[in-house]
Amino acid sequence: MSIRWPFLKRKKKSITEIPDNIPNHVAIIMDGNGRWAKQRGLPRIAGHKEGMDVVRDIVIAATEAGVKVLTLYAFSTENWRRPKSEVDFLMKLPKEFMHIYLPEMIEKNVKIETIGELTQLPDHTLKAIVHAKEKTKSNDGLILNFALNYGSRHEIVEAVKAISTQVNQGNLEIENIDEDIFSSYLYTKNMCEPDLLIRTSGEIRLSNFLLWQLAYTELWFTDVLWPDFNEELFKKALVDYHTRKRRYGGI
Ligand code: FPP
Repeated sequence: MSIRWPFLKRKKKSITEIPDNIPNHVAIIMDGNGRWAKQRGLPRIAGHKEGMDVVRDIVIAATEAGVKVLTLYAFSTENWRRPKSEVDFLMKLPKEFMHIYLPEMIEKNVKIETIGELTQLPDHTLKAIVHAKEKTKSNDGLILNFALNYGSRHEIVEAVKAISTQVNQGNLEIENIDEDIFSSYLYTKNMCEPDLLIRTSGEIRLSNFLLWQLAYTELWFTDVLWPDFNEELFKKALVDYHTRKRRYGGI
């Protein structure tokens, strides 16, 4: 099967040449930074730094492919358990990323958004994120959605609490609660659900990431460690997605 990818030649192509089933929403568990660093005798944070630069490359690749939403698992609610020095470094990455790449994100019409509990982030991290969101809020290209201090179980529990409050206050009838209403209480309420999930580093698990939203998502795993992930592999995932038959429980 031959698919012509508009971004292979790095120049604008007619819209008719873009395959019609590029995933609208790609979510990525960027795993393997620590092992990448260890293999090179480097501290773990060197892997995270390298991983940050790969984020830029994949954002550009996703933009050129016509992906609409790219959700990246940058920091989980469980990642606080890591040594303080590593957590501190990870918390500096949003500021570092924006410092280096925000002008390019703006130029590429990327809109930066987040999911997760931002209030627990250090001030400097929050400030960088708020600034980036503000600067890109009018952009209507790719939504670059960072999952920061994100945990799916926490998200679901918070949704249950908020729905219960509405019921208690008489604003919502229990029998009217359905999947759409439930979804509207999640961080992702304004986004389509992921069509494709990529996880790097050979781990085959979801790690508390978008458990509700991934119900019908196509899963794609690679042994490649995140700092070695690149545009070619991203394209391979998109090509593989192109061949999948999504049946949503039907036949
Ligand atoms: C998991 O690898 C990776 C993380 C917990 C952090 C991911 C963050 C980035 C790739 C950079 C994010 C960039 C921005 C702009 C926020 P691991 O450390 O668990 O790797 P290991 O399993 O090999 O130890």
